Amino acid sequence: RIIRAVDDATSLPTTVKIRSGFDEALRDPVRIGLRCQDAGARAVCIHPRTRTDMYSGKARWSEIQALVEALEVPVIGNGDIVCGEDARRMRDQTACAGIMIARGSHGDPWIFSQARAALDGDPAPPSPGIVERFEICLEHARNAIEFERDRKRAIIDFRKHLGWYTKGLPDGRRLRTELFQVTSLEQVEELLEGYLSHQEDLLTA
Ligand SMILES: Cc1cc2nc3c(=O)[nH]c(=O)nc-3n(C[C@H](O)[C@H](O)[C@H](O)COP(=O)(O)O)c2cc1C
Repeated sequence: RIIRAVDDATSLPTTVKIRSGFDEALRDPVRIGLRCQDAGARAVCIHPRTRTDMYSGKARWSEIQALVEALEVPVIGNGDIVCGEDARRMRDQTACAGIMIARGSHGDPWIFSQARAALDGDPAPPSPGIVERFEICLEHARNAIEFERDRKRAIIDFRKHLGWYTKGLPDGRRLRTELFQVTSLEQVEELLEGYLSHQEDLLTA
């Protein structure tokens, strides 16, 4: 009923994102996908876990394939893509028309160009160095602040991204501890600059 109502209310194509079911007993992605299609969905994206799974276990990519085979509308696959090569594997295993990436892009927006290259059979673009990583992190932070009315709230919300952007950096634990306490963009800029100059000192020592 919701899909029909949305579809009736707009001339734009209605697309739907689903999970495989509410829980294991009600797991039935193909039936759910067919109902969406019958109600007017022009594309269906599936994250093949149940609602009760939350994020536990693995996304069942075989259910993406089953949906591709059952539906006439394009199916977008989603779940557990953490690198460009995963995108290619999902497409090759399921024949899905598109892929969606969520958590894999946390602190790693480069995953999209790497996925594009893998899907096109091109060599993966190199991962960024620390300087580029920090530049993009700051640009992302500025955009996030611009988007929110409350600047302080925005930067506090952004702390999790600061953690993701700095994950795995050499000697990064202290930096992250400090980043998790920032309340302004200026503090982030200072901490990242400080980290970079300390790393440069280490390299030239
Ligand atoms: C920060 C965040 C916000 C999300 N918001 C939504 C949402 O509004 N609607 C939705 O259907 N799924 C939402 N999801 C779920 C993702 O779209 C996706 O289905 C799920 O994370 C599995 O994909 P992944 O393994 O690439 O993360 C969200 C996920 C994350 C991490």
